[in-house]
Amino acid sequence: MCKGGDSVKLCFNHLLLAFSYALDCVEKDYFKTTSYHGKRVSYICLLLGEHFALNNQQLSDLVGCAILHDNGLTEYYKQGDNTQEAEFLKIHCEVGEENIDYIPFFEDVHNVILYHHEAVDGSGPFHKMIDEIPLYAQLIHIADWIDVNYNLQDMSEKEYQNILLELHKLRNKEFSDKVVDAYLAALTYDKIIINNDQLENYLRENIHNIYQDFTDSQMLAICQLFARIIDSKSPHTRTHSIGVASKASYMALYYEYDEEMMLKLFFAGAMHDVGKLVIDRDVLEKPAQLTDSEYTYMQTHAYYSYKILSDMQLGEIVHWASYHHEKLDGSGYPFGKKAEELDFIDRLMACCDIYQALTEDRPYKDAMSHEKSIEIMRSMAVGNKIDSQIVEDMNKVFGKTS
Ligand SMILES: [Fe+2]
Ligand SMILES: [Fe+2]
Ligand SMILES: [Fe+2]
Ligand SMILES: [Fe+2]
Repeated sequence: MCKGGDSVKLCFNHLLLAFSYALDCVEKDYFKTTSYHGKRVSYICLLLGEHFALNNQQLSDLVGCAILHDNGLTEYYKQGDNTQEAEFLKIHCEVGEENIDYIPFFEDVHNVILYHHEAVDGSGPFHKMIDEIPLYAQLIHIADWIDVNYNLQDMSEKEYQNILLELHKLRNKEFSDKVVDAYLAALTYDKIIINNDQLENYLRENIHNIYQDFTDSQMLAICQLFARIIDSKSPHTRTHSIGVASKASYMALYYEYDEEMMLKLFFAGAMHDVGKLVIDRDVLEKPAQLTDSEYTYMQTHAYYSYKILSDMQLGEIVHWASYHHEKLDGSGYPFGKKAEELDFIDRLMACCDIYQALTEDRPYKDAMSHEKSIEIMRSMAVGNKIDSQIVEDMNKVFGKTS
């Protein structure tokens, strides 16, 4: 976030690029695909978009959609693993489209994510024909197809020729003429064999970081998108991030913070567990007690939250969100910070996280009452784990509402 005059400006694609690390981990976890799928699709789309002479705002929208094209994937697990392949294709498109409904793109990007698996001959999941499929959806589709079917990092020139042969066969069936032609012109062999580091740098340098003013409701939509993606990876805690975000903003109201601060606290709450996207779902959703090594692995989510949020360059939100498992006596994780290193908001976010976790259902426990949760938190405060004044303040604020 950067301050420009009186307003808070954000570069949405910059945020997305950092977040795409987490999204790519989800894809890797579910489908054992190569890492960097979202980034690679974005890179291919960027080159194709330049070929079509899109302007900077259009390129920004295209790359934003490309990074987010599989944002509905976490829904897969929510639907259960028995979902048929075809049905799943539709679901992740529908959920992905719905999730970005309120995101402030420059131009209308309706149906781009919804139709990113459509074939131009109408044989795709929604049976749309060429005229009904937006260009950006067609570009994402070809980029996705290439990255899923070929190992681009490690490709010989002969294998590259095979892609071209295959693309000729798929002309006017899977992909339109103009998209195949654009691919042939823009994605030459030397452009396609880019490695992960080069890819990351290329995107950072060429992604057109356009800083925009966001209204409060647009910011909320962005927070909610991230929170929904994070929460849907863990069906048992499907409202956890949003719950922490809303608890934090209630507390901001109680402390009479201004609107910008309230929004920042909401953002921190929505993002605090973003690192969970990196954790294998077998561990995240294990119905039994975690082993010691699994528990240690699970704890790394807080470090990944720190890493992802640092990459997003979110200023103080980085530590407000990612220190939520730190304890005043230094016994917390990932950094073992002590009281003097934890500011008031760090402490507040930790309390909101604990309160939310106690008052929500988990597979191994029912939701606790407000009174019982405060009792537990008071004993933690006595043990110098969390801030006693904040616990009392939360008692005042949520005692009335719950
Ligand atoms: Fe997809
Ligand atoms: Fe994909
Ligand atoms: Fe956490
Ligand atoms: Fe949490």
